[in-house]
Amino acid sequence: MKVSNICCIGAGYVGGPTMTMIAAKCPHIKVNVVDINQKRIDSWNDPDVNNIPIYEPGLSDLVKKTRGENLFFTTDVNQAILDADMIFISVNTPTKTYGVGKGMAADLKYIELCARQIAEVATSDKIIVEKSTLPVRTAEALRSILDNTGNGVHFDILSNPEFLAEGTAVSDLLNPDRVLIGAENTEKGKKAQQALVDVYSNWVSQERILTTNVWSSELSKLTANAFLAQRVSSINALSELCEVTEADVNEVARAIGTDSRIGAKFLQSSVGFGGSCFQKDILNLVYIAQTYGLQEVADYWEQVIIMNDHQKRRFAKKIVKTLFNTVSGKKITLLGWAFKKDTNDTRESAAIYVADYLLNEQAEVTVYDPKVTSEQIYSDLNYLGTRSDEENRRLLKVESGPMKAVENAHATAVLTEWDEFVQYDWKDIYERMLKPAFLFDGRMLLDHEKMKQIGFDVYTIGKG
Ligand code: NAD
Ligand code: UDX
Repeated sequence: MKVSNICCIGAGYVGGPTMTMIAAKCPHIKVNVVDINQKRIDSWNDPDVNNIPIYEPGLSDLVKKTRGENLFFTTDVNQAILDADMIFISVNTPTKTYGVGKGMAADLKYIELCARQIAEVATSDKIIVEKSTLPVRTAEALRSILDNTGNGVHFDILSNPEFLAEGTAVSDLLNPDRVLIGAENTEKGKKAQQALVDVYSNWVSQERILTTNVWSSELSKLTANAFLAQRVSSINALSELCEVTEADVNEVARAIGTDSRIGAKFLQSSVGFGGSCFQKDILNLVYIAQTYGLQEVADYWEQVIIMNDHQKRRFAKKIVKTLFNTVSGKKITLLGWAFKKDTNDTRESAAIYVADYLLNEQAEVTVYDPKVTSEQIYSDLNYLGTRSDEENRRLLKVESGPMKAVENAHATAVLTEWDEFVQYDWKDIYERMLKPAFLFDGRMLLDHEKMKQIGFDVYTIGKG
């Protein structure tokens, strides 16, 4: 079967970039990206491509080339479903905030709504692709909804989890380590799997396209994120030990990373991992293990989250302790709010938790981030529910430039590894701050010897 029309439900951080790449590499396929969020769709359609809702290096250029040619963004979900041979479901699957599994299980209500809408609308056979990250065996629930509420048409269900990382989405999509496609073990399932293999084959080599059964594919996505996050928590656990033993966590990371069995990537110690995926997916894994009665398995993976929470809190505590045990009324400047560089995404960013801790200690927090809007920053803080919107706006200020942000600050803390932070005139920053000028590097980003020479009192993760 040859796919000529694709619909993707969900125009977010995954749906948007992934479909743009498919459109760019498959000019013979028409791609409709649909969403219920009118504002988001309007931004994707903004005549100025710099205003698309997601900041990713290289993405706006690709959108410019394909939008209006074979890539379309619309809120007309039903029409896009009707027209499609293949439907990707790429909606959000956040941690449940209510009911059974609250705080751990994935909330699948958006997935279920998609399935019900597809079943209701479809009048011809479709291939349904799970692009969202889902608990293992979700395809079973999808099959049940599609078969019991549909119009008698046939649905094939594939699992095709996305491995892109934000900030490098375009290059990850262009040159993926692998593409994973899980299918039902039936003749029709295999044909559907081949149809998706053929789509990716337009730019990904055959040996990088892995085909498995549906359950392996679903579980591999959760597992990949758990393993990656585990590495960050492992090196962060060692960072605390380095601080008390005068070992240097960067040197330890280099020493162990050169062992080819361990590998060099994901050993950068930090203020703690953030992002929309790691915490959510590990909690989901823990919950799944628990539901199968595998308590030791659940406890093992939960420790990755416990360590990460500890790392964020430890960094904030260190600021308070260093500033003579009180930050009350003191201006603390946070450089960076995004959960990593080169993205405007702030979900689960360590900066949110550090700011919240400092605000509880009555600090006057000022934030500067090159790509995150002030409204996003307030919305992130409000979401924690620690204090009212008015209080958050009164206690935390957002500046549009770094130099104004550090003016008269008692301390500056680097929370995101934006390249531009390295380029700043740190002598000028030192002059603008109150003395002693404290500098906390939560990303091991700056040249600490140079900073000390300028006059800063420097604290960095992972160094005594
Ligand atoms: P997102 O919140 O950025 O986007 C999801 C979009 O789906 C939203 O715009 C929302 O309005 C839309 N939506 C929800 N229900 C809908 C419905 N019924 N009909 C139409 N639109 C609907 O989320 P995201 O970051 O793109 O993540 C999507 C999925 O991909 C999640 O399961 C996530 O775990 C997974 N994932 C994310 C990343 C990442 O880096 N963000 C990477 C790999 C996998
Ligand atoms: C992650 C996975 O990498 C990706 O494959 C999956 O599809 C989605 O989840 P993402 O969350 O976008 O991607 O970014 P990632 O680069 O994994 O970083 C996650 C967090 O870990 C960030 O806060 C980052 O700063 C932190 N991190 C990463 C470290 O602290 N140290 C490292 O060595 C690597």
